[in-house]
Amino acid sequence: MKKIFIFSFFVAFVALIINLTTSISSKSEIHPLTHSWEKAVPFQGIPEGLASLKSKDCGTCHQEYYKEWLTSTHAHAWTDVQFQAEIKKESSPYMCINCHIPLENQQEYLIKGLINGDIYQPVKEKNEHFDKALQDEGINCVSCHVRNNAIIGVKGLRAPHKVVKDPEFLSESLCIGCHNANYKINKELVCTFETGDEWKVGPYNGKKNCISCHMQTIDRELVKGFGHKKSHFHNFPGSGIPKVKGETVAMLLGFGFYPSKISDFYFKGDTINFYFKVKNEFAGHKVPTGDPERFFTFEFKIFDSENNIVFEKEDRIGEEWEWYPEAKKLSDTNLPPREERTFSIKYPLLKKGKYHLEILAKKHRMTLKDVQYNKLGDNYPISREVYKKEFPFSVR
Ligand code: HEC
Ligand code: HEC
Ligand code: HEC
Ligand code: HEC
Ligand code: HEC
Repeated sequence: MKKIFIFSFFVAFVALIINLTTSISSKSEIHPLTHSWEKAVPFQGIPEGLASLKSKDCGTCHQEYYKEWLTSTHAHAWTDVQFQAEIKKESSPYMCINCHIPLENQQEYLIKGLINGDIYQPVKEKNEHFDKALQDEGINCVSCHVRNNAIIGVKGLRAPHKVVKDPEFLSESLCIGCHNANYKINKELVCTFETGDEWKVGPYNGKKNCISCHMQTIDRELVKGFGHKKSHFHNFPGSGIPKVKGETVAMLLGFGFYPSKISDFYFKGDTINFYFKVKNEFAGHKVPTGDPERFFTFEFKIFDSENNIVFEKEDRIGEEWEWYPEAKKLSDTNLPPREERTFSIKYPLLKKGKYHLEILAKKHRMTLKDVQYNKLGDNYPISREVYKKEFPFSVR
């Protein structure tokens, strides 16, 4: 079951203020929203020159960007089956939506404050400007590109819409604003998205950032007929586990895999000593990162000539949590950038014949148990293969 709630460390200050005020008076008081994650991005009007804020309409001119974004996880941040299941739970506080549908225009209610500062008692008001179609787009073009009713860019181009040049805004800090939050608010509420912090202390800080790896550059036209420029892919590749079965999404692979050598034949009585090295070669943060439900498995199996499994072992990289009675991280074997881990198998060969060793590595969104607990159905993909290889050998 999922009990991971994401809050910024600022909650600490809020909690402190709540404690102070509630100890002074026990009456209901409405506390203002003071911190960024508590609030939506303020209402945005349609920038001059445009017909709407919808990504589809940006796509009439920026055609390739729109097609790429459609395949991204960002486009599913609201409609995601697991997200929808989670926010219907009473234990999910109102501000879950602020990173998934960040604009006020996308939210059905305006939150005016918190009764006694309690995140479970928001003061709600119907939002007159609520736009359902924008909500369904999740993290859309305007989430990242519209502020103060203008399009934010990095180049300062002339366009049919108002452009404000602000490279600072469109830097890794935009990504980290949502991809980092680490705080324990109460016994069962813990946030552990630390991708930003992992990157900051890692070897890529100052060399490559979120954008260098997740938005690769290509020379092309931003809009047909306007000439080639340096541009960025907008499919935001990540885990590569699609949201709907049968779909494929762009992916990145963090690990390099290095199996040790295996001989073509052995003698009866020999022992196979096999090593499998996994190195985080390509990611700027731990692998896996972010959502603590993510993990990798490494299955090692030896089959005899009749295809019976004669040896089996499974290793894992990921975090393990206990949620009751108190959220507690039990272990964390996520691999930091450039670090490696080696798994080994040992198998005594007692019978002659033909064999093969099979290695299968998979990345998992979550466990099957969690899928069933949350009733997410059979159509929600939960893993993908990242490495598979067979090594045949014989024993004389
Ligand atoms: C600080 C911003 C932030 C807040 C607040 C937030 N999320 Fe998320 N959420 C993220 C990010 C970032 C990801 C993607 C993480 C990754 O893949 O590493 C995500 C992913 C998810 C996913 C998809 C997981 C998957 O396996 O694909 C679910 C479900 C989810 N969040 C639920 C929630 C719920 C429920 C809340 C409120 C309790 C919440 N989120 C609040 C930032 C946030
Ligand atoms: C009517 C066509 C049209 C529509 C609709 C449109 N754009 Fe543009 N946009 C342009 C043109 C033309 C340029 C400049 C292209 C060039 O010079 O290569 C541009 C440039 C940009 C830039 C780069 C600005 C810079 O200086 O760095 C961004 C970002 C951008 N648009 C985002 C958007 C977003 C987001 C939407 C939807 C809300 C949108 N555009 C809708 C035509 C359009
Ligand atoms: C408004 C908050 C927000 C911003 C800004 C944001 N993200 Fe995300 N991102 C999310 C959420 C939420 C998800 C997960 C959606 C889901 O799984 O349903 C996500 C998913 C992703 C994924 C896919 C993760 C996976 O499991 O495959 C990548 C990669 C990613 N974001 C990279 C970036 C980069 C790079 C930036 C900056 C250019 C960025 N994000 C900006 C909230 C945000
Ligand atoms: C040096 C390149 C590099 C940099 C820098 C980088 N990433 Fe990644 N990122 C990767 C690779 C590679 C993966 C795929 C990991 C894997 O195999 O699952 C990945 C995966 C992710 C995922 C999917 C999480 C998961 O485990 O499923 C998210 C979310 C993400 N990155 C966000 C970010 C953010 C936010 C930043 C900036 C703070 C960032 N990345 C910086 C290369 C990078
Ligand atoms: C998660 C945030 C995010 C989303 C969503 C997003 N963009 Fe961007 N976009 C960026 C960033 C960051 C840059 C600038 C990268 C840089 O120059 O370092 C950028 C750059 C651009 C540019 C300028 C040229 C280039 O490629 O560098 C255009 C045009 C653009 N985006 C259009 C769009 C459109 C259209 C959509 C929706 C279909 C969209 N963007 C969705 C973050 C986003």
